[in-house]
Amino acid sequence: PTGSHVPALVIGTGYGGSVAALRLARAGIAVHMVEMGMAWNTPGPDGKIFANTTRPDYRSFWLRTRTKQPLSNFLGFPLDKDVPSHTGILDAEDFAGITVYQGRGVGGGSLVNGGMAVTPRRENFAAILPTVDAAEMYSTYYPRANAGLGVTSVDQTWWESAACYQYARVGRKHAQRSGFPFVFVPNVYDWDYMKQEAAGAVPKSALDGEVIYGNNAGKKSLQKTYLAQAAATGRVTVSALHKVTSVTPAAGGGYTVAIDQIDTTGATLASKTVTADKVFFAAGSIGTSKLLTRLKATGALPALNNEIGKGWGDNGNVMCGRANHMWDPTGKLQSSMPTAGIDNWDAGGAFAEVAPLPTGIETYASFYLSITKTPHRAEFTYNPATGKVDLSWDRAWKQTSIDAAKTIFDKINAKEGTIYRTDLFGAYKIWGDHLTYHPLGGAVLGKATDNHGRLHGYSGLYVIDGSLIPGNASVNPFVTITALAERNIERIVAEDF
Ligand code: FDA
Repeated sequence: PTGSHVPALVIGTGYGGSVAALRLARAGIAVHMVEMGMAWNTPGPDGKIFANTTRPDYRSFWLRTRTKQPLSNFLGFPLDKDVPSHTGILDAEDFAGITVYQGRGVGGGSLVNGGMAVTPRRENFAAILPTVDAAEMYSTYYPRANAGLGVTSVDQTWWESAACYQYARVGRKHAQRSGFPFVFVPNVYDWDYMKQEAAGAVPKSALDGEVIYGNNAGKKSLQKTYLAQAAATGRVTVSALHKVTSVTPAAGGGYTVAIDQIDTTGATLASKTVTADKVFFAAGSIGTSKLLTRLKATGALPALNNEIGKGWGDNGNVMCGRANHMWDPTGKLQSSMPTAGIDNWDAGGAFAEVAPLPTGIETYASFYLSITKTPHRAEFTYNPATGKVDLSWDRAWKQTSIDAAKTIFDKINAKEGTIYRTDLFGAYKIWGDHLTYHPLGGAVLGKATDNHGRLHGYSGLYVIDGSLIPGNASVNPFVTITALAERNIERIVAEDF
């Protein structure tokens, strides 16, 4: 309620926020978490909490009247359709040059992502965050993050014969025939549950294609891991459908936090203010960067430094599909949880996730999300005319990522005598180059903050999410975001409380 005071307030309930809440609470500190999205704990009229990937409805998108599906077309047909505007789970947030997909709700991105839990190669991590002690990360914090997230590897014997991973085995065959290293990557999905799905013993989730609009079973989202443990301490409270709009120093010390309570149409029901001794920005790369950029520009937090809003990147995301020959079917049953990637980082600057295309029919298509080594970094700026925060991303910058991805797929196509799919992102459009799933940066570690996420200019303000990572993680990012949060919060708990 308005006027209340909390020792620690966490903005956002994704990876960074959940780690912060758990570790603070375990140290005896009371924590309040504020989340703009819904709690996602109540079934809809169909008895399920989350909508299916192939049947988006009012639950699927954040305040949109029409879906904006990442794969917009199929066999020449546009897939998007009208839906009632609602505080749904997936935000397709449009900036001038890029659409940034993000999870909305208690659990943040863990509600909508593919669960691919990749620890980067150590030399790549060291190149990205050189001020962080890599030895410590790989001996302590990556293992801690993997354990906390419930990361495990698929049973490879089962995988070799599972119908739902036919697409991944075709991906392996093509990668290896072209001489590329094919690497298995762990996931947070419960593999025993998936085996039971395959056996028809339990309701299907991954094997029903559930992923970007939520998984009704099987996936260990943060709700089941960090947030469940945080709740079990009895020291953590969460306000869903509450959006932080301002943070400013309070007269008596600490910070005044302004929060709008919204309903499921996005309308403001009440505006509240609370005070907090310490505030953790964990609203995700976009959410944290937008807040800090606006608060600095409008005079709420004028002493933030000039690194605020800088160093933002798309993790070099680019998508594409390949059309296989008839003797290489990828299967009409495809698990929505990826298990593998093609690592051409050193030679070509690309790591390609062998991704599912869970349409329910045989498509003969192989689908990939590539993470590439892109040098391009955008900046957030406050626009006083609109009151909004803009991002200076240039769509043309994706060419670097396309070129990197082509080092893999041009070679595979040449070897296999195959071609790119041209129907998945529009008519005759090969590359999904208008989007990212992996926003990173905007309040970079060691620049906008000290080496542990303490914001320069204000004691008691912290950044603890993907904004700390300078634009690229070399692989899918959530394990790195979690591990870095584990590292930083340990120091902050020890020294600042
Ligand atoms: P995250 O975005 O998780 O959480 C931020 C939270 O803050 C959100 O819940 C948001 O609603 C809330 N918030 C924002 N502004 C607020 C405000 N003003 N007030 C209150 N709350 C606010 N990664 C990976 O490693 N493997 C994978 O397989 C995938 N797959 C994938 C698929 C899809 C479709 C997407 C969209 C993303 C992925 N990712 C992924 C990316 C991964 O999910 C992402 O990197 C992390 O969720 C980012 O974690 P953060 O803690 O930075 O923020």
